[in-house]
Amino acid sequence: MTPVVYPGSFDPVTKGHVDVVRRAASVFGKVIVAVASNVRKSATFSVEERVQMLEEALAGIPGVVVDAFEGLLVDYLDHSGANVVIRGVRAVSDYESEFQMAHMNRQLRPGIETVFLVAGPEEFFISSSAVKEVAFFGGDVSTFVPACVAERLRVRMSEPIA
Ligand code: PNS
Repeated sequence: MTPVVYPGSFDPVTKGHVDVVRRAASVFGKVIVAVASNVRKSATFSVEERVQMLEEALAGIPGVVVDAFEGLLVDYLDHSGANVVIRGVRAVSDYESEFQMAHMNRQLRPGIETVFLVAGPEEFFISSSAVKEVAFFGGDVSTFVPACVAERLRVRMSEPIA
């Protein structure tokens, strides 16, 4: 079975991401969740921490593996033998950048398809950045992220800024 790739920053993984992975796995059978070590974005968690949180959060969903990649997504797709990219969309505002990314990837590698899964009603408002802001000001994020992430966020946000 050819895997599909669900790429993202996952800084950190939210319940919205988990919902997308669960649904992608039930449709496609095998999903590689690929953490981008994006040099252009400063991250709250290291790639290793993000991979570890994903592994904990996604344990128990059959057919899912977590990996990390550097550089272009299309190169990672070549390496993994996948030609379908999964992305979750929340609001119309997501659409513009997703549309651009899907076309860019298809120009770089004709044959690559991006499949969008529409966020569920429980998750459409959740983003990693909003969750981090709530955590930074001491709010409860347990509704928005898996338990293992809520605890790590609490610890990270209470650390002094370097
Ligand atoms: O969770 P995010 O930050 O919306 O994910 C964006 C991501 C990591 C999927 C995207 O930035 C990406 O694919 N980065 C790898 C570099 C790349 O291939 N860029 C060209 C596509 S525009």
